[in-house]
Amino acid sequence: WNTLRGAAAASDRFAGVAVNADKLDDPVYEEIVREQFNSITPENAMKWESVEPERGRYDWAAADRIADYADANGQQLYGHVLVWHSQLPAWLGEGDFDAAELREIMTDHIATEAGRYRGRVDRWDVVNEAFNEDGTFRETVFYDKLGEDYIADAFRAAHKADPEAELYINDYNTDGLGPKSDGMYELVKKLKAEGVPIHGVGFQGHLVLGQEPDSMRANLQRFADLGVDVVVTELDIRMETPATEQKLRQQAREYKAVTDACLAVDRCDGVTVWGASDADSWIPGWFEGEGAALLYDEEYQRKPAYYATRLAFQIE
Ligand code: G3I
Repeated sequence: WNTLRGAAAASDRFAGVAVNADKLDDPVYEEIVREQFNSITPENAMKWESVEPERGRYDWAAADRIADYADANGQQLYGHVLVWHSQLPAWLGEGDFDAAELREIMTDHIATEAGRYRGRVDRWDVVNEAFNEDGTFRETVFYDKLGEDYIADAFRAAHKADPEAELYINDYNTDGLGPKSDGMYELVKKLKAEGVPIHGVGFQGHLVLGQEPDSMRANLQRFADLGVDVVVTELDIRMETPATEQKLRQQAREYKAVTDACLAVDRCDGVTVWGASDADSWIPGWFEGEGAALLYDEEYQRKPAYYATRLAFQIE
């Protein structure tokens, strides 16, 4: 249990990481992914634009590579993502379909992708980022045409395609208590009451140093009490760069606090970080002047946050 995956598995949880297929050619990256993590999430390879760039033409190369890699290394596979308004192929994002056709496109896509990986994906993000910050539904191509029913329809289609997979809804800024998290809570409660096959809620955990929510444990617990599992799905804690020793220590405390919040909840299955190292992170490309958000630095050296996260799993 001197690794993240070993320590996590000892308490029946997972330590996960988002991966990109092409990076697995880098032996330093590959060794970290294999030795430290017992769950992997394709960062981009299973997104709609990646697998179906043109209508009816599928490209599974990168997604297959990651699925095979997980099998070969005894890792769980977290599928990401079946229905999301972002990273849609142009033919869909820019297409103008009526409701009936769009519903069919959506359920066909789910049947095809979840069907292909049937029995191999442990968890699927079925619907991603369905909410606005105030807890109302986000207006997306799916919501605008199909109304909120698209969510239940997506879960039913996924369950039909892969009855064994645990089906998740996932979002950001829902980590602590608040209006967006309340919106998610009401939806999950309603879906459960209606018998929709939803099994888990993912909390992305894209956090900013110094703003880690203290209500995270209570929030995860209230969802667990609805009868679903919970997972921290995309954890990173970004800071203004350059990193200083003091900021890295604070980051370590916050990684431990988030991991502890998960471990305090019986139904929290694990924590996934959104990239192996600071060299792999999406943050610098999206937030100017920010970064250093992950467990390994740009030279693939362990940061204080690595040790703190491992310690949280070890002492559980
Ligand atoms: O694939 C092209 C490549 O061919 C091209 O050379 C390169 C040049 O920029 O771009 C590549 O596409 C990039 C893609 O990642 C794959 O690397 C896109 O530009 C880039 O926008 C895309 O960013 C991803 C982002 O989702 C897109 O929304 C990030 O890597 C990924 O970390 C991020 O992940 C999301 C989760 O899926 C959902 N939750 C939020 C999270 C962070 O935004």
